Amino acid sequence: MRVLVTGGAGYIGSHACQRLLNDGHTVVAIDSLYRGHRAPMDALSAGHPGRFAFIHADIGEGGRIRAALDEHDLDTVMHFGAVAYVGESVDDPLWYYRNNIASAIALLEACDTCRDGRGVDRFIFSSSCATYGDPPEGMIPVPEHCPQHPTSPYGRTKLHFEHILLDYAAHRANQDRPLALTMLRYFNVAGSDRTGLLGEDHTPETHLIPVAIQAAQGKRESMSIFGADYPTPDGTCVRDYVHVEDLIDAHVRAAERVKPGRAEAFNVGIGKGYSVREILDSVRRVSGKDFRVIEAGRRAGDAIALYNDPTKIQRDLGWQAQVTDIDEIVTTAWNWMQAHPDGYGD
Ligand SMILES: NC(=O)c1ccc[n+]([C@@H]2O[C@H](COP(=O)([O-])OP(=O)(O)OC[C@H]3O[C@@H](n4cnc5c(N)ncnc54)[C@H](O)[C@@H]3O)[C@@H](O)[C@H]2O)c1
Repeated sequence: MRVLVTGGAGYIGSHACQRLLNDGHTVVAIDSLYRGHRAPMDALSAGHPGRFAFIHADIGEGGRIRAALDEHDLDTVMHFGAVAYVGESVDDPLWYYRNNIASAIALLEACDTCRDGRGVDRFIFSSSCATYGDPPEGMIPVPEHCPQHPTSPYGRTKLHFEHILLDYAAHRANQDRPLALTMLRYFNVAGSDRTGLLGEDHTPETHLIPVAIQAAQGKRESMSIFGADYPTPDGTCVRDYVHVEDLIDAHVRAAERVKPGRAEAFNVGIGKGYSVREILDSVRRVSGKDFRVIEAGRRAGDAIALYNDPTKIQRDLGWQAQVTDIDEIVTTAWNWMQAHPDGYGD
């Protein structure tokens, strides 16, 4: 395959670049570097000369995206580039809609008109379990047919873009240019690659595992639990944590198995939920350190409990999470963060 990876300098996108390159594919990564890092792009470039290119651009720059698609004859798009914090989206919804929808439409237009009007053959979109909001009773674990009622602007940008993609895929089918469309609704992505090259370095960091690790490393005086009075066994929110390399494996399988003319949505999560307190206990076990935890109020937009029903992805893509033990996931994150005390250092 010849793959455009948007958001390639980000946490998940960089892991996708690495896996695709290791599998022998050609990769062009595009990133605005709004939240991503140049260091992993330089490392991948050095490790795979001639098969990897990084372009510092925004997905909203349709002309540049189209030029890259044409120049490298890219047939597949993995679209990770987005802003992705629930709280930030509540504070600045228009920015979320502009970046995750308006700019993404410019990307899609480039994907439509490139390659002498043939367009790209495959499009894989990073959607989210945030599109489900709080599932109704009887819908946890969450299957793909669960009603989608997102509780945050972030979740709504993901759901709206799914709808845009479905309309676009139908248009391509009508024009006899069938697209293979996959929408992967990730649960919580965690951990780092095992070679030690890539890791999770967000500023600000809001993801639970790296925040707890920073607290264990003494980089934060304390950390907060947002809501300890939820109707869950220990009062804290429950989430499904999928290792980043397993998540990328789902993308590779989708690219290989979803046929032209098909539009499929799959949940990607291990099928088991961990509470916030269980995650903090895992970080304590892996690090051997204790840290101060403050019980703060609930955070706007947070769903109570979300974990996946993996039946569909197991059946249709043959996908199975290889890492299901939370301590193993936390260990990969801990190892990278210990080896990179300043993250990527940029
Ligand atoms: N991390 C998770 O647990 C999780 C869960 C569900 C869905 N997702 C989705 O996965 C994708 C990747 O998430 P991540 O955790 O790697 O985030 P990230 O912030 O590390 O990576 C996103 C990358 O996209 C880039 N980007 C953002 N807007 C851009 C634009 N307009 N043009 C070009 N580049 C742009 C950022 O600079 C960043 O490098 C996102 O779409 C996110 O919504 C992530």
